Amino acid sequence: MSNILEIKNLYKYFGGIRAIDNLSMQVRENSLTALIGPNGCGKSTLFNVISGVLKADSGSIKFNGTELIGLQPNEINHLGLSRTFQDTKLFQNLTVVENMMLPPKHQKGEKLINIFKSKEKVDEMETELLDKALDILDLLEIRHMGYEYTKNLSGGQSKLVDLARILMSDPKMLLLDEPTAGVNPALTEKLFQKIFEMKNKLNLTVMIIEHDMDVIMRDEVDYVFVSNLGNIVAQGIPKEVQKNKDVIEAYLGK
Ligand SMILES: Nc1ncnc2c1ncn2[C@@H]1O[C@H](COP(=O)(O)OP(=O)(O)O)[C@@H](O)[C@H]1O
Ligand SMILES: [Mg+2]
Repeated sequence: MSNILEIKNLYKYFGGIRAIDNLSMQVRENSLTALIGPNGCGKSTLFNVISGVLKADSGSIKFNGTELIGLQPNEINHLGLSRTFQDTKLFQNLTVVENMMLPPKHQKGEKLINIFKSKEKVDEMETELLDKALDILDLLEIRHMGYEYTKNLSGGQSKLVDLARILMSDPKMLLLDEPTAGVNPALTEKLFQKIFEMKNKLNLTVMIIEHDMDVIMRDEVDYVFVSNLGNIVAQGIPKEVQKNKDVIEAYLGK
């Protein structure tokens, strides 16, 4: 198995705050990889830097061998790397399907291209997009929500729809920032199972930021990174990391 993502000596400071401080890590292709650590330790910042939303101070991030540092978010998305935000980014006054058919954020010019195409061609493209959206909803078993306004969805449903939305760009790898945050505990398990099934069906690599240890310490998770103060302080398969009492006590407060 090869590494799909290789990060070397990455730095990102916000003034005096060392959000990412000489961080290096490798993510195996087709793995379900978790990144855990206390609040404020730089997990979301790492996803922001990988996805090009924030510029790194220095370091290297290679995705399938391509250097991501210096690329724009839409260029990174086109390479097959998609991410969700800790707070879902859905348009509340649009339906689920409409949200999915919008071009991803930061992607300018997609609509402009349509001006140069015939109406028939545009209709054809819209039909293709709709079919694709419905297929993805089928895959996640939420087709019944397709024409619901997203403002009417629960926290857990919104997380699934956000996932459906980022699958529209045919990603190879997903970065999911706290997909179970704000989801009622009974549904967390279901949501996690869906993410796991989807990953296998679509042959994806998935990296999940998670603060709940119990969600992560399970057989479906291939590898765990423990982060603190902008660095990786422990890593291994869930059983190894869980056995490491120091890690759990010092960094996770359990
Ligand atoms: N855009 C930003 N500007 C300034 N400081 C930030 C910004 N984003 C995050 N930080 C700071 O960087 C640190 C890491 O934050 P974050 O990556 O959100 O942590 P986590 O996701 O692990 O909770 C925190 O101290 C946070 O306040
Ligand atoms: Mg965060």
